[in-house]
Amino acid sequence: MEQSLAGKIALVTGAGRGIGRAIALAYGKAGAKVAVISRTPATVEAVAQEIRAAGGEAIGIACDVGQRDQVFAAVQQTVDRFGGLHIVVNNAQGFGTEAAPQPSTVFVACEDTNEDEWEYTFRTGATASLWFMKAAFPHMKQAGYGRIINFASSSGQIGFEGNTCYNTTKEAIRALSRTAAREWGQHGITVNIINPALETRAFDAWKSARPDFVEALKEKIPVRRLGDPERDAGPLAVFIAGEGAGYMTGQTFMLEGGMHTLP
Ligand SMILES: NC(=O)c1ccc[n+]([C@@H]2O[C@H](COP(=O)([O-])OP(=O)(O)OC[C@H]3O[C@@H](n4cnc5c(N)ncnc54)[C@H](OP(=O)(O)O)[C@@H]3O)[C@@H](O)[C@H]2O)c1
Repeated sequence: MEQSLAGKIALVTGAGRGIGRAIALAYGKAGAKVAVISRTPATVEAVAQEIRAAGGEAIGIACDVGQRDQVFAAVQQTVDRFGGLHIVVNNAQGFGTEAAPQPSTVFVACEDTNEDEWEYTFRTGATASLWFMKAAFPHMKQAGYGRIINFASSSGQIGFEGNTCYNTTKEAIRALSRTAAREWGQHGITVNIINPALETRAFDAWKSARPDFVEALKEKIPVRRLGDPERDAGPLAVFIAGEGAGYMTGQTFMLEGGMHTLP
């Protein structure tokens, strides 16, 4: 396989499973040195070990992206270990409240929005993305090369019912990304967004809450299948992080099999 990210240093949040894990593995195969980040030490170490077993270089860092000190410490640990930072993937997202986290969104009417959920969803989503971007910026600017990929959702774009906290933080992440894209392009730093629809644990949790809706989804997706993290997210994230994608910034990549073709 072509080592298109050889010499690059990457950090991926929410990389203990699902989409983040798939991207971390793909970055390792593409030759990047990878910091694998999630809260659970055993899973980040297992993914880092998978990358090393495939011939790559990786460290696992246990970090809760909703804790500012831990975010800045994780970036520092990555830089201390590998000597810089070129690629940040803000993929982790908390659901529910800090006291009672959930595996995915809980459907609640807008007027009944729980303000603890609002705060926690924002802190682990838009705010965590901003913290990682602030911590990474000086290293990317110094290198004259940066690739930031933030995760949002078409649920936010269409205002999917019952998802107030999630929709709002995801659209804030897209606005943050566009703003940084305009400011940081001059330094060789791109900031893009992926809106995925891929089968993961979070997706399965959503499926058990809304089985009929999710079954009907497959019929709505023009490519007639639900996406797979390793098959579909890894290759796109490698492309966006590479030298060849330096002329695209501030864009939202719809990784949904054509489910939404919004203008
Ligand atoms: N799957 C989809 O179809 C879909 C659709 C739209 C948007 N998205 C977005 O895509 C991203 C990834 O979703 P996914 O489906 O891959 O989720 P997932 O399978 O549930 O994986 C989530 C990962 O994030 C970690 N994580 C959760 N809270 C964290 C925190 N506070 N700090 C650090 N790590 C944390 C989890 O590990 P620990 O529990 O060990 O921390 C896990 O490794 C999310 O931003 C999600 O909103 C997904």
